Amino acid sequence: MKIYPHYPKPVKKKISQFMTFFIKGSSWLDGVYERSYTMKMGVVKMPGILVYIPNQPELIHRILVTETKCFPKHTLLHETFRPLLGDSVFTTNGSIWKRRRDFIQPSFEMTRISHVFDLMHTSAKEMLIRLDTMADGRYHNIDKEMTFVTADIIFRTILSSKLRVKEGQKIIDSFVSFQETSAKIAIQKMFLIPKIFRYFTLEKRHRSSGERIRESLATIIRPRYNAMQSNQKDNHQDILSSLLKAVDKDTGKPFKMEEVLDEVAMLFLAGHETTASSMSWTLYLLGLYPKEQEKAYQELLCICGNEAFSVSNIKELHFISNVFKESLRLYPPVSFLPRVSARDTTMRDKVVKKGTAMIISPWLIHRNALYWEDPHMFNPHRFDDPSAIPKDSYIPFGLGPRSCVGERFAMQETVLLLASILRKFRIELEEGFIPDIVGRLTTRSLNGISVKLVKR
Ligand code: HEM
Repeated sequence: MKIYPHYPKPVKKKISQFMTFFIKGSSWLDGVYERSYTMKMGVVKMPGILVYIPNQPELIHRILVTETKCFPKHTLLHETFRPLLGDSVFTTNGSIWKRRRDFIQPSFEMTRISHVFDLMHTSAKEMLIRLDTMADGRYHNIDKEMTFVTADIIFRTILSSKLRVKEGQKIIDSFVSFQETSAKIAIQKMFLIPKIFRYFTLEKRHRSSGERIRESLATIIRPRYNAMQSNQKDNHQDILSSLLKAVDKDTGKPFKMEEVLDEVAMLFLAGHETTASSMSWTLYLLGLYPKEQEKAYQELLCICGNEAFSVSNIKELHFISNVFKESLRLYPPVSFLPRVSARDTTMRDKVVKKGTAMIISPWLIHRNALYWEDPHMFNPHRFDDPSAIPKDSYIPFGLGPRSCVGERFAMQETVLLLASILRKFRIELEEGFIPDIVGRLTTRSLNGISVKLVKR
């Protein structure tokens, strides 16, 4: 009998979609119909709200690649995340976005420089020490450790600063709180609930967790920013160092402290939640498919043996990398990309008015039976031949000019973490474990991922 990885059971009727939105309030995946998995363009109509969901490669290409100016990011994103991200590259549009993208892009060229790899490697080795204490014959929630190690990697590679368990947990908790309030505030704004009916305590909590995170990051960044301004040499080889050296192409001047802070906060948010989610889902799949796990382990022995990991031997782990790519297909960490139509246009048989919200969903296109064979099944061999991947139907990192800046960084980091874990432990998924999948800012399991680590 075929074993399928778990996914939320599609709902039958429109009314249930409407209800689940209010009951669960924050996971849109609970409102997906069976038909959503084969549709080319969906529509969600609720009181005061109209959203189109283009779900065909040609339409996705139009929105994300050829007509990006007509389909900018939704302004709700910018408004909701402003207390933490200011005017960061992730949330802005037009010339503000372009200036910020030019600002941060070169820093990611550093990913290929082995120093960033060394920082990741140190973090991976420390993770193994913590995992060792978890290998006690019992089941543990591995998601917690994945959240910690990915936050630690971001901290080290951006700020050259190690995340200490206690202070690290505080920052992670503030991020969790910020994301929870973000989802609630976005829903209130989406349903155009007038300001007088909104929960002001919620907005206050939202602003203060954003400010708290910014302040903790500012205490690390400010001394280095000031030193740079007074022409002192910065000897770090991290991402912050290249941000501090960057100059605005138009003015020839360095970026302001607030601008650097916006981007560091954004990199922390965009760069650790996504990788934590993808790592947890990959470990779930490896636990669910022991034969594929063994194959991954054998590849690792063949290519790396007991040698230290390096940029080049990690690149040769094709099967592990394909397992990860398949995990991103089944559980894309970013399950929806919000856009808005900036002018009246048509799409298939629909007239799309200026100002209409549009959602592109990696989750839906990755599981669309028109483009993928047996789409809900785990099969890493789909990626053996890159030319066989259906065009514009695999978009875990987005597409076009707004695609992910950290894609290479993420691939390097996750394959290194997977290789480190697989070399030391066998992963056993708890029998009968069913993840409670939620599609929020990222795709996560509310009840974690319960695995036993068995030392090899
Ligand atoms: C598995 C890990 C990751 C996944 C699945 C992922 C996914 C995505 C996606 C889908 C987008 C496009 C969003 C849209 O078009 O609306 C995006 C954008 C972005 N990502 Fe990632 N990401 C990952 C890791 C990272 C990392 C590690 C970093 C940095 C350290 C990063 C930084 C960014 C930035 C800066 C953008 C905004 C680009 C722009 O708007 O110009 N991401 N990511």
